[in-house]
Amino acid sequence: MRLDKMLADLGYGTRNEIRKACRQGRIVLNGEYVKDCSIHVNPEEDEVLVDEEPVLYSRYVYFMLNKPIGVVSATSDRQMTVLDLIDSGIKGLFPVGRLDKDTEGLLLITNDGQLGHRLLSPRHHVEKEYEVELALPLKEEDVTRFASGIQLSDGERCLPSTLIITSETAARVILTEGKYHQIKRMFEAVGNQVVGLKRVRMKHLVLDESLAPGEYRELTKEELADLKELAGSDE
Ligand code: URA
Repeated sequence: MRLDKMLADLGYGTRNEIRKACRQGRIVLNGEYVKDCSIHVNPEEDEVLVDEEPVLYSRYVYFMLNKPIGVVSATSDRQMTVLDLIDSGIKGLFPVGRLDKDTEGLLLITNDGQLGHRLLSPRHHVEKEYEVELALPLKEEDVTRFASGIQLSDGERCLPSTLIITSETAARVILTEGKYHQIKRMFEAVGNQVVGLKRVRMKHLVLDESLAPGEYRELTKEELADLKELAGSDE
C-alpha cells in the first residue's frame, strides 16, 4: 500500500498535506526520512513515524463503547467527548450517531466512514433499542400511540415504534429512525418525562453488560460480520 494512502486513511490529512509533511522531513520509514511518500509500505511490518510518533496501522477499527452519562457524542468539543475515552492512538475515529449527554449505553466508534454512513442512513431503518425510565406511570394506551406513530409537539410525525412496558415507570423502546432527542420528545408527547435513558442494542449489536460505563472493547468477528451484512447494500 502507498504510504500517502495509508496515512490519509488513518486521518493524518489529505494526500497533499502528507506530501508536504514528507518534504518537511516529518515522516520516517524504518529509520529513514521519507522523500517520496508514494513509496509502498507493508503496514503490518514497516515502522512509520509522523512527527516522531509511531503510526499504529489498522485499516478499520470498530469499538463498542458503553457511553457514560456526562460525555458528549462528538469528535471534538470543549467538553469531554466519547473519543477522549478511546485510548487507541488511531486517528479518524468517530461515533456512529449521537447519544445525548445524559444518555448512556451502546455507541459504536469506528474509522470506517462507509459503514457508519450506511448504519445511519434513514433508508436502512436500523433498529435501536433503549431502556427508559419515566417520571410518571406509563399507560396501556401509550403502547398503541407509539405503534401508530407519535406526533411530536412541532407537528413532526415519528415512524411506528415499539413500546414494551416493563414496570410502572420503566419501558423498552425500539426505534427505526433517529430524530433529535427523539425518545424524550415522544414521551413528552404522551404527557410523560424521561428521567433515565440507555441504549442497549443497535440492530444485532447488543451492549456487552460486562463493560462498565466508560469502558470499550473491539467488536468480535461475528458482531462485525452481522453489522456489515446489514450495511452491505446501499439500496
Ligand atoms: N432519544 C433521545 O431522546 N436521546 C438519545 O440520546 C437517544 C434517543
